[in-house]
Amino acid sequence: MKQIVNQYLELLSLSGIESIKKPAKIEVPELTPAEKEHLLQQKRIEYSDCDMCQLHLGRTNFVYGNGDSNSKLMLIGEGPGEQEDKTGDVFVGVAGQLLTKMLTAINLNRDDVYICNIVKCRPPANRNPLPDEVKACSSYIQEQIEIIKPEFILLLGRVAAHNILKTTSPLSQLRGKTYKLDDIQVVVSYHPSALLRNSSFKKPAWVDLQRLRDMMQPNED
Ligand code: URA
Repeated sequence: MKQIVNQYLELLSLSGIESIKKPAKIEVPELTPAEKEHLLQQKRIEYSDCDMCQLHLGRTNFVYGNGDSNSKLMLIGEGPGEQEDKTGDVFVGVAGQLLTKMLTAINLNRDDVYICNIVKCRPPANRNPLPDEVKACSSYIQEQIEIIKPEFILLLGRVAAHNILKTTSPLSQLRGKTYKLDDIQVVVSYHPSALLRNSSFKKPAWVDLQRLRDMMQPNED
């Protein structure tokens, strides 16, 4: 095995590739709120020229994530759209505006939660990210979860649900339940873009949000 790895490294070196850029999987120790924020800012800069998949070829911005790195709630969407690619910020387009309203409806300000996506660069014409693109990006989201250590994660849509929960079950079967990712309670709902396309999803999405609100505030009505 070691010989094969050495041969591969030699081949890369002969092709002019001297290093492989891959974010190290870090065990994040207990951090103060300020340290968490600082670490995420560092990571955002460090990864901003990522070229680990073909999506980097068409991007304007690497869209890492926004919000409160000390929030107890983390939201995970699919990938940046046109507006997010332009600005470098997550969920700022039409779907993002709806997401802001959905959060407000359960008394959350979007600045008080942390929001990010499964892939950090915009897929062409907003197509679903391909499996190798998701794989190339997966260490970023794992690391964000490890740094933020939220108490709750809301997975928005099929791409987020399938990749974080490692399942292929339909979204309709995944919602309404609580999953555990280490100590984190994970719930699934529709992606705001799905609500914009099909208003029949609005009612179940509202049920999901209310359930999340109740989980986060177990002692309040
Ligand atoms: N859709 C997503 O999944 N993420 C965004 O940031 C914007 C739209």
